[in-house]
Amino acid sequence: MGQLGDVIPVPAQVWPDPAADFTIGPDAAIRAAPGAEPVARQLAELLRAATGHPVPMRPDGTIRMELQDGHGAEGYRLDVATDAVTVAAERPAGLHAAVQTLRQLLPVAGRAGDVVLPGGRILDRPRFAYRGTMLDLARHFFTPDEVRSFIDAIAQFKINHLHLHLTDDQGWRLEIEGWPRLTEIGGGPGTGVGGAGPGFLTAAEYADLVAYAAGRFITIVPEIDMPGHVNAAQVAYPELAGDGRRVAPRHDRAVGYSSLDAGREQTYAFVEDVIRAVAALTPGPFLHIGGDEAKATSAADYRTFLHRVLPLVARYGKRPIGWHEVAAVDLPDTAVPQFWRTRAADAGVARAAANGCQVIMSPADRTYLDMKYAADSEPGLDWAGPLDVARAYDWDPATRLARVGEQALLGVEAPLWSETLRSLTDVQTMTFPRLPAIAEVAWSPQTARDWASFRRRLAAFGPRWRAQGIAFHRSPEIPWA
Ligand code: ACM
Repeated sequence: MGQLGDVIPVPAQVWPDPAADFTIGPDAAIRAAPGAEPVARQLAELLRAATGHPVPMRPDGTIRMELQDGHGAEGYRLDVATDAVTVAAERPAGLHAAVQTLRQLLPVAGRAGDVVLPGGRILDRPRFAYRGTMLDLARHFFTPDEVRSFIDAIAQFKINHLHLHLTDDQGWRLEIEGWPRLTEIGGGPGTGVGGAGPGFLTAAEYADLVAYAAGRFITIVPEIDMPGHVNAAQVAYPELAGDGRRVAPRHDRAVGYSSLDAGREQTYAFVEDVIRAVAALTPGPFLHIGGDEAKATSAADYRTFLHRVLPLVARYGKRPIGWHEVAAVDLPDTAVPQFWRTRAADAGVARAAANGCQVIMSPADRTYLDMKYAADSEPGLDWAGPLDVARAYDWDPATRLARVGEQALLGVEAPLWSETLRSLTDVQTMTFPRLPAIAEVAWSPQTARDWASFRRRLAAFGPRWRAQGIAFHRSPEIPWA
């Protein structure tokens, strides 16, 4: 049994009480308040796996899940005493966060013997509302089963947004009503980088993923990248290219060569159809419009394009997120620039923050999970790397970018681009153990974080990930158990 606070992300406040340990005996049961039942069932399943016996839901249960005011949207209180365990939160999302904490206090599933929870109290709530990661389905497609497995793995660290990069020069991975060639051609054989396999999500598969993620309190953020990164759309529909000529498919790693034509109405008819379709399939508040690396679009055309497209996102009820290049225009204060470069200042993002926009921090040298861990590690890219675990951990989002402080931050996201990835094992190896570092950056108070403590807590995940079948990089910085 570990200490009460030995979890990732480290809780905001912890008061261990070694005299108050709770044993989950054979007659343990859960009492769930009205509204708490779905999360209580998830806890029951975890307790069954850890103890080897069923832990039913009963009115006299001493493991109590309660809903009460005062903890915020995702905060919770956990009290472990000798005679009862009490979890209290304002909302089911807070109960779910508490269950992720409890899960890490349980022994690795399959070990025999009494299961004992360490006594004491935790009071916890997130520093930032948006704690995300991103999977690039465009450069390499991952199946719905693989995405579900990824969702299960990231939810354990209180990650609450999964951004799906669905379209790029190489491929188009989401079925759009009225535009069948996008996925018939853009999701066809050989459309991954280097000719990797076919694949796309039907609208129904995407909706299923959204619902599956919602069951783990994760919001899907769909990205349709434009006006650049559109070669696959132009291969499928040559009329979307400026001169209407046939466009050759490309599956290399180059960027910045394709653009929608900001001067043609046809462009906006296409974009509106896509935004309408994606918004209709997405209950979450955000729709990501890309906007990065539009090197084949003139600065004037780029501004024209955004002035047309930002209001379309709002018309279909969504808040636009864009890579931080979108801050070249005056953004509405509902728009969210996502900073991804490595520099220390960005005039556009600072201006957007001053105008009331919230910002997502994804500086590539701290958060890009596709960077190599070390110069000689595979797979991965190295333009912003290498990125070891300490580097992913040891920074403060509120001091990363000049004039973009704590109050301007919506949160932090760790993107995983897939140019060099070929399998779910590759995805897992690049994600773990760096995403837990980013999760702690985004959830825990800066004052509660400490690298020496983090690497010790992280070491305990070796056996957990092995038991869950999750591959991870055995970073030499971590004293693996
Ligand atoms: C990006 O890495 N092009 C956002």
